[in-house]
Amino acid sequence: MSNNRKYLIAGNWKMNKTSADAEELIKAILLELGDKNGVSVVVCPPYTSLETGAKVLAESSNVQLGAQNMHAKASGAYTGEISAAMLRQLYVNFVILGHSERREYFSESDEEINEKVLAALESNLKPILCVGEKLEERESGDTLKVVETQLLGGLVNVPEDKADQVVIAYEPVWAIGTGKTATPEMAQEVHAAIRVLLRDRFGKATGDKIRILYGGSMKPENADGLLAKEDIDGGLIGGASLDAKSFVKLVESAAKASA
Ligand code: PGA
Repeated sequence: MSNNRKYLIAGNWKMNKTSADAEELIKAILLELGDKNGVSVVVCPPYTSLETGAKVLAESSNVQLGAQNMHAKASGAYTGEISAAMLRQLYVNFVILGHSERREYFSESDEEINEKVLAALESNLKPILCVGEKLEERESGDTLKVVETQLLGGLVNVPEDKADQVVIAYEPVWAIGTGKTATPEMAQEVHAAIRVLLRDRFGKATGDKIRILYGGSMKPENADGLLAKEDIDGGLIGGASLDAKSFVKLVESAAKASA
């Protein structure tokens, strides 16, 4: 990685852990992490654990809180939904948007995801906008086209002066939760293409500031190779974020890569 982007390691817990479990896991992460810094570390537990997370993390400047989704509207008759303001009140700083599981199981479109990105930025939440191709799209040679559509679709009307608050996560769908990781070269090829699109969209200086994470079966055994690549600025970690030791090992890999 170059251009002084600070590495970011974010744990996407998905629908795992009760709030009692979350308290335990966050405390274990803090203990394991000690006072290491130099890397942005984010945990994204389910909504029900955010309040607990906020309390446990209150004293820590080392680990920040993220949510896994939110609604684009500020308030109103949207049963079952959560707004950006509700997240901000719990000291949430990041929000994962457009994860492939939301696109697939909850039919989220680029338009809807874009509304959420804009609402998040409006509330000073940093969106982690997820993009990535399915296996059949990769096999038919459509990877870059799919990623471009999702990326630019998610970023419509994002103002240039807020663009550096956005984080992109490239997550090839075929690598998520499957144990199959993209090779560092495969990932870097897509990250580099994303970088070019970001520079075109926001200008070189801003495009160079935006962090692009890799996600999809990233774990301690394969992280070093990925994080060494020029445009891979961290990871969005599913399975390996549910264990304090493996999650912190990934933070250590990022610290090593930035040294
Ligand atoms: P995984 O999930 O690390 O378990 O593959 C990554 C993600 O879905 O964000």
